[in-house]
Amino acid sequence: MTSSRDKGLSRIADILAKHPANRGSLIPVLQDIQQDFGYLSEEAVAELERRMGISANEIYGVATFYTQFRFSPPGEHTILSCQGTACHVRGGRQILTELEQRLGVTAGRTTADGKFDLERVACIGCCALAPVVAVDGKVHAQVTAKKIPSIISRYAGEGNFS
Ligand code: FES
Repeated sequence: MTSSRDKGLSRIADILAKHPANRGSLIPVLQDIQQDFGYLSEEAVAELERRMGISANEIYGVATFYTQFRFSPPGEHTILSCQGTACHVRGGRQILTELEQRLGVTAGRTTADGKFDLERVACIGCCALAPVVAVDGKVHAQVTAKKIPSIISRYAGEGNFS
């Protein structure tokens, strides 16, 4: 029987096979692994170390330089709090603070139960609806701090965020 670890390793082998076998491929390989697995796990980095001959330290050194890479599994839902100018002047900062307090995490983190990623972003292109919060790509318009508990509850399933 094939374990999920073996399947993961074979997916990494497939990804590596798509790229030239040299150091210049490291970033595109990391991007493909993240796209496929959702993050860069310790196992994935160890496998790259073994197969590419690049030390894990060096891989982490490269990956941590870019904000696009994450090292823990993504949350079930992604909440983007817009901090672009239009949203900022209409209370975006207070909304982000409310989100951080309700979820118990700072922007850039995943909640302990793995339900939510909270991200601070610049303009997401809906300035006329400012201030906005987007959850899994759905834009919530003219958000106020008071509306945050009900927005979170819609995605939280069980749990009390009010
Ligand atoms: S500044 Fe928030 S959508 Fe443009």
